[in-house]
Amino acid sequence: MSNRLTKVGVVFGGMSREHSVSIKSAATVINALRDGENKQKFEVISIYIDRKGIWWSSDISERVLQEGSNFLNDQIPNTSSLKGLTKLLDETAKIDVWFPVLHGPNGEDGTIQGLFKLTGKPFVGSGVLGSALGMDKLAMKAAFAKEQLPQVTYCKAYARDLLNKENLSYLIHQIESELGYPCFIKPANLGSSVGISKAYNQTELITGLTLASKLDQRMVIEKSIKARELECAVLGKKNIAASCVGEVFCKTDWYNYDSKYSGNSAEIIIPAPIEGHIAKKVRDLSLLACNAISAEGIARVDFFYEENKDSLLINEINTLPGFTSKSMYPMLWAASGINLSQLVARLIESAKE
Ligand SMILES: Nc1ncnc2c1ncn2[C@@H]1O[C@H](COP(=O)(O)OP(=O)(O)O)[C@@H](O)[C@H]1O
Ligand SMILES: [Mg+2]
Repeated sequence: MSNRLTKVGVVFGGMSREHSVSIKSAATVINALRDGENKQKFEVISIYIDRKGIWWSSDISERVLQEGSNFLNDQIPNTSSLKGLTKLLDETAKIDVWFPVLHGPNGEDGTIQGLFKLTGKPFVGSGVLGSALGMDKLAMKAAFAKEQLPQVTYCKAYARDLLNKENLSYLIHQIESELGYPCFIKPANLGSSVGISKAYNQTELITGLTLASKLDQRMVIEKSIKARELECAVLGKKNIAASCVGEVFCKTDWYNYDSKYSGNSAEIIIPAPIEGHIAKKVRDLSLLACNAISAEGIARVDFFYEENKDSLLINEINTLPGFTSKSMYPMLWAASGINLSQLVARLIESAKE
Protein backbone atom coordinates (compact mmCIF):
# COMPACT_ATOMS: atom_id res chain seq x y z
CA MET A 1 0.00 0.00 0.00
CA SER A 2 2.73 2.47 0.98
CA ASN A 3 4.47 1.79 -2.34
CA ARG A 4 1.51 2.93 -4.37
CA LEU A 5 2.40 5.75 -6.75
CA THR A 6 0.87 9.16 -6.02
CA LYS A 7 -1.29 10.01 -9.02
CA VAL A 8 -0.70 13.65 -9.91
CA GLY A 9 -3.22 15.41 -12.15
CA VAL A 10 -1.26 18.10 -13.99
CA VAL A 11 -3.71 20.58 -15.50
CA PHE A 12 -2.33 22.94 -18.15
CA GLY A 13 -3.19 25.13 -21.15
CA GLY A 14 -6.28 27.16 -20.32
CA MET A 15 -8.16 30.07 -21.83
CA SER A 16 -5.63 32.77 -20.94
CA ARG A 17 -3.16 34.68 -23.05
CA GLU A 18 -0.37 32.66 -21.39
CA HIS A 19 -1.66 29.42 -22.94
CA SER A 20 1.52 28.49 -24.78
CA VAL A 21 3.73 29.42 -21.79
CA SER A 22 1.59 27.07 -19.71
CA ILE A 23 2.22 24.20 -22.16
CA LYS A 24 5.98 24.77 -21.84
CA SER A 25 5.77 25.03 -18.06
CA ALA A 26 3.74 21.79 -17.91
CA ALA A 27 6.28 19.96 -20.07
CA THR A 28 9.02 21.00 -17.62
CA VAL A 29 6.99 19.93 -14.57
CA ILE A 30 5.90 16.62 -16.10
CA ASN A 31 9.38 15.68 -17.31
CA ALA A 32 10.69 16.34 -13.82
CA LEU A 33 7.94 14.19 -12.27
CA ARG A 34 8.87 11.35 -14.62
CA ASP A 35 12.60 11.70 -14.01
CA GLY A 36 14.96 9.72 -11.73
CA GLU A 37 13.63 8.86 -8.26
CA ASN A 38 10.33 10.60 -8.98
CA LYS A 39 9.40 7.71 -11.30
CA GLN A 40 9.08 5.51 -8.22
CA LYS A 41 6.90 8.05 -6.42
CA PHE A 42 4.56 9.66 -8.93
CA GLU A 43 2.35 8.79 -11.83
CA VAL A 44 1.40 11.79 -13.95
CA ILE A 45 -2.06 12.14 -15.44
CA SER A 46 -1.87 15.06 -17.84
CA ILE A 47 -5.00 17.11 -18.48
CA TYR A 48 -4.94 19.75 -21.18
CA ILE A 49 -7.48 22.60 -21.37
CA ASP A 50 -7.59 24.07 -24.88
CA ARG A 51 -8.10 27.73 -25.78
CA LYS A 52 -11.88 27.21 -25.94
CA GLY A 53 -11.98 25.77 -22.43
CA ILE A 54 -12.41 22.13 -23.49
CA TRP A 55 -10.72 19.60 -21.19
CA TRP A 56 -8.87 16.72 -22.84
CA SER A 57 -7.81 13.41 -21.38
CA SER A 58 -4.28 12.07 -21.28
CA ASP A 59 -3.95 10.64 -24.79
CA ILE A 60 -4.57 14.05 -26.36
CA SER A 61 -2.80 15.96 -23.56
CA GLU A 62 0.39 13.95 -24.05
CA ARG A 63 0.36 14.79 -27.75
CA VAL A 64 -0.05 18.49 -26.95
CA LEU A 65 2.98 18.30 -24.67
CA GLN A 66 5.03 16.72 -27.46
CA GLU A 67 3.77 18.58 -30.50
CA GLY A 68 1.99 21.72 -29.31
CA SER A 69 -1.74 22.17 -29.73
CA ASN A 70 -2.12 22.92 -33.45
CA PHE A 71 -3.06 19.39 -34.48
CA LEU A 72 -6.20 19.56 -32.35
CA ASN A 73 -7.96 22.06 -34.58
CA ASP A 74 -7.54 19.94 -37.71
CA GLN A 75 -8.05 16.46 -36.44
CA ILE A 76 -10.51 16.39 -33.64
CA PRO A 77 -14.05 17.72 -33.68
CA ASN A 78 -14.77 20.08 -30.80
CA THR A 79 -17.96 18.42 -29.71
CA SER A 80 -19.66 19.74 -26.62
CA SER A 81 -19.58 16.28 -25.03
CA LEU A 82 -15.84 16.77 -24.49
CA LYS A 83 -16.34 19.97 -22.57
CA GLY A 84 -15.44 21.05 -19.11
CA LEU A 85 -16.65 19.69 -15.85
CA THR A 86 -17.95 16.30 -16.99
CA LYS A 87 -14.48 15.50 -18.22
CA LEU A 88 -12.97 16.74 -14.97
CA LEU A 89 -15.26 14.52 -12.94
CA ASP A 90 -14.26 11.47 -15.00
CA GLU A 91 -10.62 12.17 -14.25
CA THR A 92 -11.04 13.10 -10.58
CA ALA A 93 -11.62 9.61 -9.25
CA LYS A 94 -8.14 8.58 -10.35
CA ILE A 95 -6.25 11.55 -8.93
CA ASP A 96 -4.53 11.94 -5.55
CA VAL A 97 -3.13 15.47 -5.96
CA TRP A 98 -3.87 18.26 -8.44
CA PHE A 99 -1.00 20.28 -9.86
CA PRO A 100 -2.27 23.35 -11.71
CA VAL A 101 0.28 24.63 -14.22
CA LEU A 102 -1.90 27.45 -15.48
CA HIS A 103 -1.33 31.18 -15.62
CA GLY A 104 -3.70 34.15 -15.52
CA PRO A 105 -7.49 34.35 -15.18
CA ASN A 106 -9.29 31.06 -14.35
CA GLY A 107 -6.02 29.29 -13.57
CA GLU A 108 -4.28 31.51 -11.07
CA ASP A 109 -7.14 33.51 -9.57
CA GLY A 110 -8.91 31.03 -7.31
CA THR A 111 -11.44 29.81 -9.88
CA ILE A 112 -9.93 26.40 -10.56
CA GLN A 113 -8.67 26.22 -6.97
CA GLY A 114 -12.33 26.30 -5.88
CA LEU A 115 -13.05 23.44 -8.23
CA PHE A 116 -10.13 21.42 -6.88
CA LYS A 117 -11.40 22.05 -3.38
CA LEU A 118 -14.80 20.68 -4.35
CA THR A 119 -13.20 17.47 -5.63
CA GLY A 120 -11.87 16.91 -2.09
CA LYS A 121 -8.32 16.29 -3.32
CA PRO A 122 -5.30 18.38 -2.26
CA PHE A 123 -3.67 20.69 -4.78
CA VAL A 124 -0.34 22.44 -5.26
CA GLY A 125 -0.20 26.14 -4.48
CA SER A 126 -2.41 28.74 -2.84
CA GLY A 127 -6.06 28.18 -2.03
CA VAL A 128 -9.00 30.24 -3.22
CA LEU A 129 -8.26 33.27 -1.05
CA GLY A 130 -4.50 33.50 -1.68
CA SER A 131 -4.97 32.94 -5.40
CA ALA A 132 -7.70 35.56 -5.72
CA LEU A 133 -5.77 38.15 -3.70
CA GLY A 134 -2.59 37.38 -5.64
CA MET A 135 -4.35 37.90 -8.94
CA ASP A 136 -6.12 41.16 -8.14
CA LYS A 137 -3.59 43.96 -7.88
CA LEU A 138 -6.02 46.22 -5.98
CA ALA A 139 -6.90 43.60 -3.37
CA MET A 140 -3.24 42.59 -3.07
CA LYS A 141 -2.14 46.16 -2.47
CA ALA A 142 -4.85 46.68 0.13
CA ALA A 143 -3.65 43.55 1.97
CA PHE A 144 -0.03 44.75 1.83
CA ALA A 145 -1.05 48.21 3.07
CA LYS A 146 -2.89 46.63 6.02
CA GLU A 147 0.37 44.93 7.04
CA GLN A 148 2.36 48.12 6.39
CA LEU A 149 4.49 46.43 3.74
CA PRO A 150 6.44 48.84 1.53
CA GLN A 151 5.00 49.42 -1.95
CA VAL A 152 4.76 52.03 -4.70
CA THR A 153 2.35 54.94 -4.21
CA TYR A 154 -0.87 54.14 -6.09
CA CYS A 155 -4.44 55.17 -6.80
CA LYS A 156 -7.38 52.93 -7.58
CA ALA A 157 -9.89 53.40 -10.36
CA TYR A 158 -12.98 51.64 -11.68
CA ALA A 159 -14.14 51.39 -15.28
CA ARG A 160 -17.36 53.21 -14.31
CA ASP A 161 -15.32 56.30 -13.36
CA LEU A 162 -14.62 56.81 -17.05
CA LEU A 163 -18.27 56.93 -18.02
CA ASN A 164 -18.96 60.16 -16.20
CA LYS A 165 -17.09 63.38 -17.04
CA GLU A 166 -17.10 64.69 -13.51
CA ASN A 167 -15.76 61.44 -12.04
CA LEU A 168 -13.10 61.22 -14.71
CA SER A 169 -11.81 64.72 -14.10
CA TYR A 170 -11.77 64.06 -10.36
CA LEU A 171 -9.77 60.87 -10.99
CA ILE A 172 -7.30 62.64 -13.26
CA HIS A 173 -6.84 65.40 -10.73
CA GLN A 174 -6.20 62.82 -8.00
CA ILE A 175 -3.65 60.92 -10.12
CA GLU A 176 -1.84 64.10 -11.15
CA SER A 177 -1.63 65.45 -7.62
CA GLU A 178 -0.82 62.17 -5.81
CA LEU A 179 1.36 60.43 -8.42
CA GLY A 180 2.34 62.80 -11.22
CA TYR A 181 3.88 61.66 -14.52
CA PRO A 182 5.04 59.26 -15.70
CA CYS A 183 2.63 56.77 -14.17
CA PHE A 184 1.66 53.17 -14.88
CA ILE A 185 -1.94 52.20 -15.58
CA LYS A 186 -2.77 48.54 -14.98
CA PRO A 187 -5.87 46.38 -15.23
CA ALA A 188 -6.14 44.76 -11.79
CA ASN A 189 -6.55 41.16 -12.94
CA LEU A 190 -4.46 40.28 -15.94
CA GLY A 191 -0.71 39.65 -15.73
CA SER A 192 2.06 39.25 -18.31
CA SER A 193 1.92 43.05 -18.68
CA VAL A 194 -1.26 42.74 -20.78
CA GLY A 195 -3.18 46.05 -20.90
CA ILE A 196 -0.50 47.94 -18.95
CA SER A 197 0.67 51.31 -20.21
CA LYS A 198 3.03 54.03 -19.10
CA ALA A 199 1.67 57.56 -19.41
CA TYR A 200 3.81 60.69 -19.67
CA ASN A 201 0.96 63.20 -19.91
CA GLN A 202 -2.79 63.60 -19.53
CA THR A 203 -3.63 62.42 -23.06
CA GLU A 204 -1.65 59.23 -22.55
CA LEU A 205 -3.23 58.78 -19.13
CA ILE A 206 -6.73 58.89 -20.61
CA THR A 207 -5.69 56.50 -23.42
CA GLY A 208 -4.17 54.13 -20.86
CA LEU A 209 -7.23 54.24 -18.60
CA THR A 210 -9.50 53.61 -21.57
CA LEU A 211 -7.45 50.61 -22.65
CA ALA A 212 -7.28 49.11 -19.16
CA SER A 213 -11.00 49.73 -18.52
CA LYS A 214 -11.88 47.60 -21.55
CA LEU A 215 -10.03 44.67 -19.99
CA ASP A 216 -11.03 45.01 -16.36
CA GLN A 217 -13.54 46.89 -14.20
CA ARG A 218 -10.81 47.39 -11.60
CA MET A 219 -7.61 49.31 -12.24
CA VAL A 220 -4.47 50.42 -10.45
CA ILE A 221 -2.46 53.53 -11.30
CA GLU A 222 1.05 53.72 -9.88
CA LYS A 223 3.74 56.32 -9.61
CA SER A 224 6.51 55.28 -12.02
CA ILE A 225 9.80 54.71 -10.30
CA LYS A 226 13.32 54.07 -11.52
CA ALA A 227 14.30 50.81 -9.95
CA ARG A 228 16.02 47.47 -10.41
CA GLU A 229 13.70 44.44 -10.50
CA LEU A 230 14.39 41.64 -8.03
CA GLU A 231 12.52 38.37 -7.60
CA CYS A 232 12.41 35.71 -4.90
CA ALA A 233 10.85 32.23 -4.94
CA VAL A 234 8.78 30.83 -2.06
CA LEU A 235 8.08 27.16 -1.40
CA GLY A 236 6.12 25.22 1.25
CA LYS A 237 3.21 25.64 3.62
CA LYS A 238 4.00 24.95 7.26
CA ASN A 239 7.68 25.03 6.47
CA ILE A 240 7.64 27.99 4.15
CA ALA A 241 11.02 28.99 2.72
CA ALA A 242 12.42 31.73 0.51
CA SER A 243 15.09 31.17 -2.15
CA CYS A 244 18.11 33.25 -3.08
CA VAL A 245 17.33 36.45 -5.00
CA GLY A 246 17.38 36.94 -8.77
CA GLU A 247 17.37 40.04 -10.92
CA VAL A 248 15.67 40.75 -14.23
CA PHE A 249 17.60 43.13 -16.44
CA CYS A 250 15.29 44.52 -19.01
CA LYS A 251 16.66 46.12 -22.16
CA THR A 252 13.37 47.86 -22.94
CA ASP A 253 12.09 50.80 -20.87
CA TRP A 254 9.93 48.44 -18.82
CA TYR A 255 9.19 44.74 -18.68
CA ASN A 256 6.31 44.55 -21.16
CA TYR A 257 4.64 41.58 -22.86
CA ASP A 258 7.13 41.47 -25.73
CA SER A 259 10.20 41.61 -23.53
CA LYS A 260 8.71 38.85 -21.36
CA TYR A 261 8.11 36.42 -24.20
CA SER A 262 10.14 37.42 -27.25
CA GLY A 263 13.42 35.97 -26.11
CA ASN A 264 16.34 38.33 -25.91
CA SER A 265 15.15 41.60 -24.45
CA ALA A 266 15.43 40.53 -20.81
CA GLU A 267 18.21 38.82 -18.95
CA ILE A 268 18.00 36.87 -15.70
CA ILE A 269 20.87 37.10 -13.23
CA ILE A 270 21.10 34.69 -10.29
CA PRO A 271 22.11 35.52 -7.67
CA ALA A 272 21.32 39.21 -8.08
CA PRO A 273 24.42 41.38 -7.65
CA ILE A 274 23.15 43.11 -4.50
CA GLU A 275 24.42 43.46 -0.97
CA GLY A 276 23.71 40.73 1.57
CA HIS A 277 21.44 42.87 3.74
CA ILE A 278 19.23 43.67 0.74
CA ALA A 279 18.99 40.00 -0.24
CA LYS A 280 18.02 39.13 3.32
CA LYS A 281 15.39 41.84 3.38
CA VAL A 282 13.97 40.56 0.07
CA ARG A 283 13.63 37.08 1.54
CA ASP A 284 12.06 38.34 4.77
CA LEU A 285 9.62 40.59 2.92
CA SER A 286 8.72 37.73 0.54
CA LEU A 287 7.51 35.62 3.44
CA LEU A 288 5.64 38.54 5.00
CA ALA A 289 4.02 39.34 1.64
CA CYS A 290 2.86 35.73 1.20
CA ASN A 291 1.50 35.79 4.71
CA ALA A 292 -0.38 39.04 4.05
CA ILE A 293 -2.41 37.50 1.21
CA SER A 294 -2.42 33.85 2.39
CA ALA A 295 -0.26 32.70 -0.53
CA GLU A 296 1.37 29.33 0.09
CA GLY A 297 2.90 26.27 -1.53
CA ILE A 298 4.42 28.06 -4.50
CA ALA A 299 4.88 31.77 -5.18
CA ARG A 300 7.27 34.25 -6.74
CA VAL A 301 7.49 37.65 -5.10
CA ASP A 302 8.64 40.56 -7.29
CA PHE A 303 10.31 43.69 -5.98
CA PHE A 304 11.45 47.12 -7.06
CA TYR A 305 14.82 48.10 -5.62
CA GLU A 306 15.60 51.82 -5.70
CA GLU A 307 19.32 51.57 -5.34
CA ASN A 308 20.03 55.24 -4.72
CA LYS A 309 17.60 55.23 -1.76
CA ASP A 310 18.49 51.69 -0.67
CA SER A 311 14.74 51.12 -0.65
CA LEU A 312 12.81 47.94 -1.43
CA LEU A 313 9.18 47.98 -2.54
CA ILE A 314 7.04 44.90 -3.14
CA ASN A 315 5.58 44.95 -6.64
CA GLU A 316 3.50 41.79 -6.71
CA ILE A 317 3.11 38.11 -5.93
CA ASN A 318 2.63 35.52 -8.65
CA THR A 319 0.92 32.49 -7.14
CA LEU A 320 1.56 30.27 -10.19
CA PRO A 321 4.83 31.59 -11.61
CA GLY A 322 6.24 30.52 -14.99
CA PHE A 323 7.84 27.08 -14.77
CA THR A 324 9.65 26.59 -18.06
CA SER A 325 13.29 25.51 -17.99
CA LYS A 326 14.22 29.19 -18.44
CA SER A 327 11.86 30.58 -15.82
CA MET A 328 13.00 32.44 -12.75
CA TYR A 329 11.15 30.20 -10.24
CA PRO A 330 12.91 26.85 -10.92
CA MET A 331 16.18 28.67 -11.61
CA LEU A 332 16.09 30.39 -8.21
CA TRP A 333 15.57 27.06 -6.45
CA ALA A 334 18.30 25.36 -8.48
CA ALA A 335 20.67 28.11 -7.35
CA SER A 336 19.47 27.57 -3.77
CA GLY A 337 20.33 23.85 -3.87
CA ILE A 338 16.99 22.30 -4.86
CA ASN A 339 17.05 20.81 -8.35
CA LEU A 340 14.02 20.51 -10.60
CA SER A 341 13.15 16.90 -9.64
CA GLN A 342 13.41 17.70 -5.94
CA LEU A 343 11.42 20.89 -6.45
CA VAL A 344 8.37 19.27 -8.07
CA ALA A 345 8.42 16.51 -5.42
CA ARG A 346 8.53 19.14 -2.64
CA LEU A 347 5.65 21.04 -4.22
CA ILE A 348 3.51 17.91 -4.20
CA GLU A 349 4.48 17.16 -0.61
CA SER A 350 3.51 20.71 0.35
CA ALA A 351 0.06 20.17 -1.20
CA LYS A 352 -0.47 17.26 1.19
CA GLU A 353 0.73 19.16 4.29
N1 LIG B 1 5.36 51.63 -10.72
C1 LIG B 1 6.24 51.18 -11.63
N2 LIG B 1 7.41 51.85 -11.84
C2 LIG B 1 8.29 51.41 -12.76
N3 LIG B 1 8.11 50.31 -13.52
C3 LIG B 1 6.96 49.62 -13.38
C4 LIG B 1 5.98 50.01 -12.41
N4 LIG B 1 4.96 49.14 -12.47
C5 LIG B 1 5.27 48.25 -13.42
N5 LIG B 1 6.47 48.53 -13.98
C6 LIG B 1 7.10 47.76 -15.05
O1 LIG B 1 6.09 47.00 -15.73
C7 LIG B 1 6.29 45.59 -15.55
C8 LIG B 1 4.96 44.88 -15.43
O2 LIG B 1 4.26 45.34 -14.28
P1 LIG B 1 3.61 44.34 -13.24
O3 LIG B 1 2.86 45.15 -12.25
O4 LIG B 1 4.65 43.44 -12.72
O5 LIG B 1 2.54 43.58 -14.14
P2 LIG B 1 2.30 42.02 -14.45
O6 LIG B 1 1.45 41.51 -13.35
O7 LIG B 1 1.59 42.04 -15.74
O8 LIG B 1 3.67 41.37 -14.49
C9 LIG B 1 7.21 45.49 -14.35
O9 LIG B 1 7.96 44.30 -14.36
C10 LIG B 1 8.08 46.74 -14.52
O10 LIG B 1 9.09 46.54 -15.53
MG1 LIG C 1 5.05 41.41 -13.01
